[in-house]
Amino acid sequence: MKTVVSGVRPTGNLHLGNYFGALRNFVKMQDEYKCYFFIADLHSLTTHPTPADLKRNVHNILANYLACGINPAHAIVYAQSDLPETTELYLYLNMLASLGELSRCTSFKDKARENPSNINAGLLTYPTLMAADILIHKADYVPVGKDQLQHLEMTRTFAGRFNTMYKVSFFKEPQAFNFGEAPVKVPGLDGKSKMGKSEGEMNAIYLSDTDEAIRKKVMRAVTDSGPAAVGQQKSEVIENLFSLVRLISGDEVYEHYNNLYNNMQIRYGDMKKQLAEDAIKFVAPFRSRITELLANPALLDKVLADGAEHAHESASKTISEVRNIIGL
Ligand code: ADP
Ligand code: TRP
Repeated sequence: MKTVVSGVRPTGNLHLGNYFGALRNFVKMQDEYKCYFFIADLHSLTTHPTPADLKRNVHNILANYLACGINPAHAIVYAQSDLPETTELYLYLNMLASLGELSRCTSFKDKARENPSNINAGLLTYPTLMAADILIHKADYVPVGKDQLQHLEMTRTFAGRFNTMYKVSFFKEPQAFNFGEAPVKVPGLDGKSKMGKSEGEMNAIYLSDTDEAIRKKVMRAVTDSGPAAVGQQKSEVIENLFSLVRLISGDEVYEHYNNLYNNMQIRYGDMKKQLAEDAIKFVAPFRSRITELLANPALLDKVLADGAEHAHESASKTISEVRNIIGL
């Protein structure tokens, strides 16, 4: 059975972009592959979260994952910091990573530019820790977005370099996983092409949002002055709003408003009302499940403890072979 590894940094809650773009597929994958879904709490230390925020965010992400249908009986769900084998492998991989290649990494350059007062060694070696996450389980596939492809390429480089240095064919080179279909991109409510947690308050609908919050955000979604001619092509913001309607309200509702648009009879306010009510119906079961799970921290800790124990089975095997290969 092929192995899949994916991690998410514990920052904030998950939104419909995360759900339709990634989580929904994770749920499908968990029955077909050996899946390791972990929470990258060590990676998040680059920005020095407070202990309370860190702990809360790890539980938050876990509750969001479970609420979406990730089943700890099928997939192995754990916190990165509970698997010390990863940090050990990170140290070995750091010996093979050069300052030049790490400092040329796009995400490092972006973060260093955004935050020049906090360019720490953890940020520089972010890609080696990510490579360790993946290689510790000898993953075949890594389902990640476009922004992570360079990190995955570096993972392959480090894997190949280890094999060459020690004249072994120990690590395989993991591939990006694209679900065999064009990736869905969920647009934001502000007319921007991407729903994202860094895009501002009004851009994203979160799985934990209240009905009121959803109504407010959807009703304020950006629109234009309406079609000026029958059959006029939609502007980008309207195209984006219609994509959300198709995803959340379904094809029938989409067709209804699309016809109204084409006949110049559309009232965006009506469409937004419908979208808001459908988004509320969609989010409600996720939110109540998240609330239920967050009220039970002992259960969440148990899931993480069991996950770590299972992850340890594969990780300890890899690390003892690595030590042996290195000559330790
Ligand atoms: P954000 O963009 O909010 O910071 P992340 O970068 O943490 O989200 O993304 C986590 C996962 O969710 C990735 O696999 C990413 O590809 C997916 N994802 C995030 N936003 C969207 C979106 N708007 N549409 C589709 N997939 C998305
Ligand atoms: N770097 C990823 C992100 O920022 C999170 C991550 C850490 C990850 N380790 C990973 C993703 C291993 C996939 C595999 O989104």
